[in-house]
Amino acid sequence: MHKIDIFDTTLRDGEQSAGINLNTQEKLEIARQLEKYGVSIIEAGFPASSPGDFEAVKLIADTVKNSVVTGLARTIKGDIEAAWEALKGGVQPHLHTFIATSPIHMQYKLNKTPEQVIELAVESVKLARKYFPLVQWSAEDATRSDKDFLVRIMNEVIKAGATTINVPDTVGYATPAEYGALFKYLTENVNGIERVKLSAHCHDDLGLATANTLAAIENGATQVEGTINGIGERAGNVALEEIAVALHIRKDYYQTESGIILKETKRTSQLVSKLTGVAIQPNKAVVGKNAFAHESGIHQDGMLKNPETYEIITPELIGDASTELVLGKHSGRHAFSSRAVEMGFHLSDEKLNAAFAAFKKLADSKKEITEDDLFVLLTDQQVKTSEVDVYELESVQVQYGTSNIPTATVQAKTPSGQVEVVSSTGAGSVEAIFNTLEKLVNGKVHIIDYRVSSVSKGRDALGEAVINLTYNDVVSVGRNASQDVLEASAKAYLNAINRQLIKAHYQERVPVTQ
Ligand code: KIV
Ligand code: ZN
Repeated sequence: MHKIDIFDTTLRDGEQSAGINLNTQEKLEIARQLEKYGVSIIEAGFPASSPGDFEAVKLIADTVKNSVVTGLARTIKGDIEAAWEALKGGVQPHLHTFIATSPIHMQYKLNKTPEQVIELAVESVKLARKYFPLVQWSAEDATRSDKDFLVRIMNEVIKAGATTINVPDTVGYATPAEYGALFKYLTENVNGIERVKLSAHCHDDLGLATANTLAAIENGATQVEGTINGIGERAGNVALEEIAVALHIRKDYYQTESGIILKETKRTSQLVSKLTGVAIQPNKAVVGKNAFAHESGIHQDGMLKNPETYEIITPELIGDASTELVLGKHSGRHAFSSRAVEMGFHLSDEKLNAAFAAFKKLADSKKEITEDDLFVLLTDQQVKTSEVDVYELESVQVQYGTSNIPTATVQAKTPSGQVEVVSSTGAGSVEAIFNTLEKLVNGKVHIIDYRVSSVSKGRDALGEAVINLTYNDVVSVGRNASQDVLEASAKAYLNAINRQLIKAHYQERVPVTQ
């Protein structure tokens, strides 16, 4: 058995995907869960990209103790220095710096010759090593680069002090055989490669990210990078939970150990989906809602006779026991708080009281409170920020009849502290609410996507609304779970607006260019 380090970039490459904008508390929550999940390295963000990213990376580096925390930097002095300021409080400060090595990137994006690119890479690694004990260097667009140029530049950056060499398939272009062969070639030709970690980083444009990552492992990779649920730029990155489960189920073949705590898989996946607003497709490997559902009669019959006939992964392996009944309406604050701790939440007294009040309210109208319900309540409190004045829904009322014009009236507190009552109509109840809220927030709102789903099972299940919108042309995602889907929709809408106000408070992210 050899060890594969799992490098999670959900908070950097994942957060780069369209429509995702996590705030600092949410990023910290995800980082804590990743630490519990057992990832070796957490890429917490790109500190030089915005004050908000800087603050989040610093908070995560100062908080997380059992995973190495890293941040991204271009080959620019200011980026490396900003990263040091953000990461120096970490247990083992680690920097990730990169430059593109493919002809198309060097010529059109960087406008640099290959010699200049080598020089920049070497200078940046040398500078980074003045601060950081661990420096990862990435050859962006490695799979469309000349392999002998890769060998040359890698020889130089290893000499300059890089401790990890990453070989990204930036545009998801490689096939498994090609990607595996590239790792073999680098392993055989780069000087000193045996002294550093060799890392795979796959994007999923051709749906080959998992196969490519496994091919890299078979050919010498000692670290793999990816995101939870495979979120990321365009078609996303490799889904780390798929790699971790594949290495576990087929350890007879791969002979590797990832250190991932598999029973935290479901929780990690749900948290990332909830906070990013990116839904998990039902048939997604490992964490999809249907990953363990057996519909056909032949399969069900086989399962009853021996589950191993059709089930190679059990729900228990990935911690999917979420429909368990955990607390009832007579449960007290003590039982509630112990359960919260068992579930891995660390809430202040104030937040715990607010979560307990929400639990009591829910328990009054919902017979069974499941772990999924508790997860929603506790996460909502955990990630709440009180630093910025935002919109707060006080009430929403909708008049609907098949032969009436649906009309909504909303009472809400605005960021200026005033309470306003607004009303509008729409073609349906949801549109009436959205039109009313658009008046309230006094800006141009365009709805890109809107989904409602149930959090657990049964007719009294919580309804979760997720909304992607643009507010004054800036994309934002909002969500809320309530017992009534109309209330959840109104709150999700205001959540999307509020998240933008919070983001604006910490300034916008600047685009990543090099
Ligand atoms: O895909 C990529 O090339 C990257 C680099 C920044 C490592 O994410
Ligand atoms: Zn990437």
